[in-house]
Amino acid sequence: MSASSDEAPWGNTVLVEFDEGIAWVTLNRPDKRNAMNPTLNDEMVRTLDALEADPRCKVLVLTGAGESWSAGMDLKEYFREVDEADDPSVQIRVRRASAEWQWKRLANWSKPTIAMVNGWCFGGAFTPLVACDLAISDEEAQYGLSEINWGIPPGGVVTRALAATVSQRDALYFIMTGELFDGRRAAEMRLVNESVPADRLRERTRELALKLAATNPVVLRAAKVGYKVARDMPWEQAEDYLYAKFEQSQFLDRTHGREKGMSQFLDDKTYKPGLSAYRD
Ligand code: COA
Repeated sequence: MSASSDEAPWGNTVLVEFDEGIAWVTLNRPDKRNAMNPTLNDEMVRTLDALEADPRCKVLVLTGAGESWSAGMDLKEYFREVDEADDPSVQIRVRRASAEWQWKRLANWSKPTIAMVNGWCFGGAFTPLVACDLAISDEEAQYGLSEINWGIPPGGVVTRALAATVSQRDALYFIMTGELFDGRRAAEMRLVNESVPADRLRERTRELALKLAATNPVVLRAAKVGYKVARDMPWEQAEDYLYAKFEQSQFLDRTHGREKGMSQFLDDKTYKPGLSAYRD
């Protein structure tokens, strides 16, 4: 596994390690439970841009250093110090960088993304959690929409992200009570795909990441972007858009995966994709 260098576009608040096509991206402020401050937000914007063009990254896993995934927005540096600056342009700048990586870039990223939730996940951290395509959690990780306990409603797009993943009953229960829930509950309510014991978290995430890293990247991109965009479209437009995606992926796929698959199934009789998925 190769680690990031001093010249890398990420910095001290973000670590990147490469491992067989997986970029393990670690929010790295363990002393502050990986609370997201303006520096980390800026570094994550640069990290996502750099990794998008980096062939060592076929899949991105987002995790946290130490015992926390992320304790949410940094209450001191993102809120108090920005309030104290009393300058709207500062607030606009820090909010833009935060939104830019936590959902705008991440949700539409060209490569598959997996959140590996290894511990505390609070408030603003729900945004990158939901923006990742898939999520695997430690069973014991603790989640909290703690904003209500701070005397504020959830900010940014936290509530919007919840509405995109969990039921209204679950979303409102946790938004309105601020109660904690664990990784098992997060999996039950489909906030994450699955939860596993801590000692299996990395292994299970790696297994999933390697599977995605071995999948045709052009088709994977068309499939995930197609889902995310089409889900908000009327059916007529969705059909037209998804056929356009379908044809775009054939045009962009220089490996001609579709033709090969057809030929293997129809002519050579060497491959049954349905059966292979069943046997995996
Ligand atoms: N913003 C800024 N600093 C934070 C932070 C946040 N969201 N979360 C933790 N920290 C800092 C603490 O202030 C403390 O800093 P210090 O060492 O300079 O005093 C350090 O991280 C360690 O936090 P601590 O509370 O001592 O750790 P813990 O392991 O006992 O508890 C948490 C961990 C995550 C449960 C607890 O820190 C917490 O409740 N954080 C706030 C989470 C939250 O509500 N986030 C939503 C913000 S809208």
